[in-house]
Amino acid sequence: MPVVHFIDVNRKVECVPGANLRELAMEASYSVYHGVRKLLNCHGEGLCGTCRVAVVAGRTMPRNEVEQKRLKGVPEPWRLACQLEVLDNITVTTNLGVIDRAAAEAQARADRAARMRQVAIREHEAAVGRKEAESEVEAADADAKQAEVDSAKAGQEAKTARGLVENMPDGPARDTAAEAAKKAHQAASDAMHAVADAKVAAHDAHVAQEKGDAKAAHAAEEQARAAEQRAAKAESVAAKHLAEVQEAAAKAGPARAEVASEAGATADGDKPAKAPARTAAKSKTKTETKTEE
Ligand code: FES
Repeated sequence: MPVVHFIDVNRKVECVPGANLRELAMEASYSVYHGVRKLLNCHGEGLCGTCRVAVVAGRTMPRNEVEQKRLKGVPEPWRLACQLEVLDNITVTTNLGVIDRAAAEAQARADRAARMRQVAIREHEAAVGRKEAESEVEAADADAKQAEVDSAKAGQEAKTARGLVENMPDGPARDTAAEAAKKAHQAASDAMHAVADAKVAAHDAHVAQEKGDAKAAHAAEEQARAAEQRAAKAESVAAKHLAEVQEAAAKAGPARAEVASEAGATADGDKPAKAPARTAAKSKTKTETKTEE
């Protein structure tokens, strides 16, 4: 059974094939006339030409002779309702502006659907990116942690080197050791800077993961790894210079503390010295200064 869609009022009416469109519209309380034409018309005789409707969708038979005469020069979609037999599903209107509005609304709905689809795609891509960034974040965190370990080790090595130099007797070996200790200290400082860089990079990796940006997370992880490698290298340099200090200390003979200890033992029997030689020397100097005053 054909269905006629009166799009102006969004009403659909089913009918038998061959039903007259004007009569069908009247049964559906849909007026094909405008204004006074509702009263002043030819009642379906095909004489007044006021029952015009535009068929905007569906198939119809071509205009009959009456329509060809009354609608001469009128664009194609327009038909005389009183002359049109409904044979298939059709959509009609007496106001083509309605079609424009309907088209605009349909376009707006399509645009809205396209925007929602884009949002859904972006959300999906972000979720995939977050998942991909997970391993990068873990690696960056591990790099930062390892850099801290390297830095702590380098710091301890620099401290040990400095302590050895403090206790060495004056002489060329002590000067050499002091220079090496200075380099160890510099290496420890480099390692600390590398730790700071690694932490910043790890933070960047976390931010990138939040945004679902796997590419940025990967770049941040590479920076964290480079910083960790710098920390490892600095630690290696610190260790090398500590070894130089130890070697110089071995060549320099007994440490000041040992000398002082032996000196104390000689004066007080078997008792160890109360303070290291360098401290004792400083105290002595102060006493002498006071005496002179
Ligand atoms: S009603 Fe007059 S032409 Fe159709």
